[in-house]
Amino acid sequence: MRIPSYIRISRKCTGPVTYGHVVIPPNTSICMAITLLANDNLRFGQPDKFIPERWLGDSIEAQEARARYPSFGFGPRTCMGRECVSAVLDINSR
Ligand code: HEM
Repeated sequence: MRIPSYIRISRKCTGPVTYGHVVIPPNTSICMAITLLANDNLRFGQPDKFIPERWLGDSIEAQEARARYPSFGFGPRTCMGRECVSAVLDINSR
């Protein structure tokens, strides 16, 4: 898929975090590699192809694709422009 707007989303652990069998100590900086997510064959079929339809509509596949790809981040630090961007896209796609 296209190179995402954000290459990675970073966080700092405020306490110990257990991920699988690994314990990440407090104050460790961690990041989610959005580029790797975007090109993961297990999440998206044909990630190297431009298929905008994969995001559209209410099909299970489209809902799952949107849920699997945190284009605006997540949690309390999620993108503050998210609703604005969605509104602009909605208006311009009519
Ligand atoms: C397609 C357009 C955009 C995309 C894909 C995008 C994506 C993102 C992402 C991934 C983050 C990091 C979120 C996280 O760490 O969890 C972020 C943060 C942020 N975005 Fe956007 N953004 C877009 C447009 C905008 C616009 C138009 C504005 C302002 C009008 C904006 C304002 C912000 C701000 C202020 C933050 C920092 C939030 C914080 O750290 O608390 N973004 N954005």
